[in-house]
Amino acid sequence: MADYRNIVILTGAGISAESGLATFRGPGGLWEGHRVEDVCTPEALAHDPALVHRFYDLRRAALAAVAPNAAHAALARLDAEWPGELLIVTQNVDDLHERAGTGRLLHMHGELTSALCAACDARVSWPGDLPPKTPCAACGAPALRPDIVFFGEMPYQMERIERALAACDLFVSIGTSGAVYPAAGFVQTARHYGAETLELNLEPSGGSGWFGESRLGPAGVLVPAWVDEVLAR
Ligand code: APR
Repeated sequence: MADYRNIVILTGAGISAESGLATFRGPGGLWEGHRVEDVCTPEALAHDPALVHRFYDLRRAALAAVAPNAAHAALARLDAEWPGELLIVTQNVDDLHERAGTGRLLHMHGELTSALCAACDARVSWPGDLPPKTPCAACGAPALRPDIVFFGEMPYQMERIERALAACDLFVSIGTSGAVYPAAGFVQTARHYGAETLELNLEPSGGSGWFGESRLGPAGVLVPAWVDEVLAR
């Protein structure tokens, strides 16, 4: 790969799989046990808030039982030691990147440990269960909902992400199936602006053909090895 200083990394559910969190697609995935439209759309929230809130309460509770793995730790080391620009964009709503110590991080699909007011858009840290109609401390409306970007909603900080993709010279995708846009299109944007592209995934993803290089294997092995390479340059 050519010389690079400015790195953007996209992570998906595959990076948290070895910590014990289920991915979405494939055998045993979250979308095998639930229909996306029942728990992850604005319509589902309006139609059956108790079901939607319960789904995310269970996932929030599951976070307490898991810990960051070697892949999260390696990216935290990269964040601490990489002297150039770095932005880690995660599709994950777990908090394993920050628990590993990563700071240059953005959650594009929201966060399990946060609540969003549907009335005033306030976001507040929320570690425990979130019953429907919980009042918002900022505006008083009984409108707190899980701070999750549902299908059909705009992901967070897209302008900042687009700017970072246009400016990076290396784009790396880790543990994501490339099934959900806009994240699935980041590789094409980065290529368009001239970045090198690398995929680290257990199996070829939907977008594998777009990457200059694809390495297959578990994130817990591939990511620490790649970070060692980058920091040794
Ligand atoms: N190491 C590396 N990759 C892995 C591992 C592992 N240990 N285990 C699984 N994978 C790979 C799978 O092969 C798959 O390609 O991780 C990918 C996970 O894909 P998905 O389950 O589709 O998760 P993700 O790509 O993050 O989903 C994107 O879909 O439903 C939405 O909003 C949700 O953010 C999520 C988005």
